[in-house]
This record gives sequence, structure tokens and C-alpha cells, in this order.
Amino acid sequence: MNADGRIRLNQLPEWTALARHREELGEVRLRDLFDADPARGTGYALQVGDLYVDYSKHLVTDETLRLLRELAAATDVFGLRDAMFRGERINTTEDRAVLHTALRAPRGAVVEVDGENVVPAVHAVLDKMADFAERVRSGAWTGHTGKRIRNVVNIGIGGSDLGPAMAHEVLRSYTDRDLTVRFVSNVDGADLHEATRDLDAAETLFVIASKTFTTIETITNATSARNWLLTELKAGQEAVARHFVALSTNAGKVADFGIDTANMFEFWDWVGGRYSYDSAIGLSLMIAIGPDRFREMLDGFRLVDDHFRTAPAESNVPLLLGLLGIWYGNFLGAQSHAVLPYSHYLSKFTAYLQQLDMESNGKHVGRDGREVDWQTGPVVWGTPGTNGQHAYYQLIHQGTKLIPADFIGFAEPVGELGDELKAQHDLLMANFFAQTQALAFGKTPQEVRAEGVAEDLVAHRTFKGDHPTTTVLARELTPSVLGQLVALYEHKVFVQGAVWNIDSFDQWGVELGKVLAKRVEPALTEGAEVPGLDASSRALVAKYRELRGR
Ligand code: F6P
Repeated sequence: MNADGRIRLNQLPEWTALARHREELGEVRLRDLFDADPARGTGYALQVGDLYVDYSKHLVTDETLRLLRELAAATDVFGLRDAMFRGERINTTEDRAVLHTALRAPRGAVVEVDGENVVPAVHAVLDKMADFAERVRSGAWTGHTGKRIRNVVNIGIGGSDLGPAMAHEVLRSYTDRDLTVRFVSNVDGADLHEATRDLDAAETLFVIASKTFTTIETITNATSARNWLLTELKAGQEAVARHFVALSTNAGKVADFGIDTANMFEFWDWVGGRYSYDSAIGLSLMIAIGPDRFREMLDGFRLVDDHFRTAPAESNVPLLLGLLGIWYGNFLGAQSHAVLPYSHYLSKFTAYLQQLDMESNGKHVGRDGREVDWQTGPVVWGTPGTNGQHAYYQLIHQGTKLIPADFIGFAEPVGELGDELKAQHDLLMANFFAQTQALAFGKTPQEVRAEGVAEDLVAHRTFKGDHPTTTVLARELTPSVLGQLVALYEHKVFVQGAVWNIDSFDQWGVELGKVLAKRVEPALTEGAEVPGLDASSRALVAKYRELRGR
């Protein structure tokens, strides 16, 4: 029994029933499942908004899915979902509401936090962002010397970088191509150097994105950017106001940094960093694609929010995807999950999902403060699929690990491409369909032999198959479809955290490294003694100083 009166997850009868079912199923063969049910290809598919989600190539039966839904019911996933949408403080370790869904609530909706409707404030910030974005895009907002802004450099890290950087890449064909938009996150000075080395400071706007405005990487880069700007412009502090804006919840720290709070775009503590790119954190993206496209993206998020909130368990796509992950992670021993987009524009999508998923569900302590004794979040990884095919797919096809994978593809190539490049799209998608087919059904030794392969090579050239995949197919990669995809994963992660009974919205695991970095830095620069530094780290610090000639 948990401290909160709940039965421990792995003692629930629904959990035990799944474990028993797994034993009874034995080795699941997708060929058998498809033979037994010729309608599986269309029957195991759902539509949410523009996303067609095929889950037929999973190692599950109707009974598996029913038992998984029973587990979701027993762990009250929908109860926690409703509490989240109601603005309850479900982030218990930080005592905060979790309301990224309010960021895409329509004007006029009511979402209350502590009795206050937050929707008017959300739209006031969106309007302020839109006004500013239009002024930059039209040239009405000029730099200190009166020149038009042509470059936007977003400085932020984690959720204040990955989301807008990913979305800017995804929606590149919707961006104003006369604007250069770059993202700097790494405290390695090389990042800022490469981002600014060919820019005219007089035409450059820095967008400093930090929820807390205390993150050392971001404040260090922002300080260097300010020094670069003032040196390049040969100007004093008065130039900062035209070249720096802030995206933050912390007006005091923004003012301390020297940014006019009139140039600050606000968000709130009920928006987690990794759930924030549809808040003010999306300003650089909005400047790039324009407010209308940004609002289309928010509409896409909202569509999936509404689906998650209202669809019954049988057809609730985030619930289904979350439960499939639980099946593989908790009952079939999978340790990782691959996300493989067949769109070059989604090249940063998996990196974005890594924070969303791994920072949310990389927890080993439950909501009740007790160590969990079941697996939680998987390692999420992947790159655009076609490139992966010539790199790591070998291991997925013929290695020894179970790696469930999501394949994401589109029927139409991006509109901007010329005819010849558009014609390549069918080849791209032929690979997309071929891979999930090969992963699922493989190639039997008999089939290999029938090709005349020498007996000593038959085993090498056999593909066992039964590698599970979800296929997500949409007509086109639009701003709305991006919003739909992100919301789908946000809610999938939510479902898993709810079942595992962990707090998906804190991130205490990143704190220790931050504290230690602060303690170690004086040892590197001044050779200061760090109390309690272990022998290995002490030797490494000494080696570093020696290599630097200190
Ligand atoms: O990596 C830890 C973290 O706190 C993330 O959760 C967050 O997205 C990132 O740092 C950046 O934080 P901030 O926006 O406050 O600078």
C-alpha cells in the first residue's frame, strides 16, 4: 500500500493480470496476428485531427489493450487528467498547477488557478507577442542605430531552446526567409561565436528566453551577447533596449540584467519549461512564422487537448500510445523508444521529445515519496529515418534489443520544394512504408532459401521481424499538424507518468550537477580547493589545469 492509500502499482490486480497475460501470450508473432484478423490493418488505427495513427504492428491483441485500459482505469489516469485541466496543483513536489493546456485555450475560455481565470492573461501576452513580432517583421522595430532587424538570436537552454528551435526547423518553409533566426544554448562560447560571427550587430535582436532568468548558461551567454553588441555598436547601455527582449516569469531578474520589463514577455509558474514553447517562449518562432501561423499551431495543440480530454478510452490516442509504452517497458523489457520522422524538417523533433519525455518521466521515486519498483521512462532517441536506415537500423532489425519505434510521415512534400525535389517524396515514403513492413514481418529462413542464398548465410540474412512500430501519417506538415503532434506526445508522457504514479512535472535530477558545477569552477580558474571533491575528480581537475598551463 502507498502512503497515499493507493495500492502499489505492481500489486494491483490489473497489473498482475497483465503480467499473467504476457506469460500466456508467449512469443507474439505479427504474421499470426494479421493472419488471424485480416481487418487488423484498418481496425487497429485511429484518427485524431489530421493524424492517422496505425497501431496494428504492435505486439498486442484486443485482450492486451483491454487489460492495459483497465490498468489506466485502476490508476485513475483520467482523474489526474481532469485535475490537470482544472488547474489543480498536480505537480506536488513543486506545489504547482500544470496548465500548458491553458496556453492554447480559446479567448473566452475559463481556466482557473487559485480562483483566477488565467485565459485573459494568456491572450494578453499572445497579443503583445503578435504586435511585437509584426513590428520586427515589418521593419517598424529598428535597432539602436535605426537599422531594420534582420537577425534574431534566441538565447535559452532546455525548454527555453529545444521547443522553439525544433519548431523553427519544422516550419522553416513558413518562415520569412529574409530573417535569419538562430538558437544559442550551449555555454561553450563556440555556440554564441558561430551564431553571431557573420551578423551585423545593428541588425540583430537577442531574445533571452529563461523561465527563471537564473540559468547560468543562459545568463552567461546573454551577458556575452550584450558585451558583443555594445562593442560592435560602440554604444552604451542605452542600446540594450532596442536589441534585447526577455521571455520569463521573473521580472525582477530581467530588470537586474538590464532589460526593460516593457520588453519582457511573461509566462507563469504553471507552465513547465519543457511544456513552454507555445507560451512567450515561442516569440522567436512567432517572429519567424508570423502570428497567424503561430495561432494555427496553437489550434492544433488545442485539437488534441480536446481529444485527450473527451475521447473515450477505446479511441483516446494519447492514452493508447502511453499504454503501449507501458506494455513494452514494464511487461516486455524494452528500455528505449525510437522516434523516427520521415521528414527532414522534423530533424530536431526527437531531441525535443528527449527533454519532454526523459525530463518528465526519468524518475525513480513515486508521488508518495517511495522508491518505485517498476520501470519508468524509456530512453528516447532517433533521427530522421532515412539517415538512420544507413546507420543504426541494423540493430533494430537484427540486434538483440526490443526497440518500439514511432514512424512519422507525410503524404505531401513541403510546398516550397521544386518539382524535381517533390518527385523524390515517393521514394522517401516508399522507405517509410518498407521499413515498418520489414520490422514487423521480417523475412523467414524459408524465404531467404527460396532466393537461393547459400545455407551458411541463411541465418545472417533472416529477419525475425516482430519489431513493433506505430505509424503516424498526415497529409502535410503544417503549423497545426506540428501542434497536434507535440500535444500528442505531451499527453502520452502524461499518461505514462500517471500510471507509474510519478510527478512528471518536476526535474530535481538536474539540480545536483548545477550545484557541483558552481563549486568546481573556482578550482578550474583559480586552483581553489573544493571541499569534499572526490579523488577522481580532483585528479581530473589537476590534469585540466596542467593542460591549460595553469
Ligand atoms: O534543465 C533543467 C531546466 O530547469 C529545464 O527544465 C528548463 O527547461 C531549463 O533548465 C531552462 O530553464 P530556464 O528556462 O529557467 O532558463
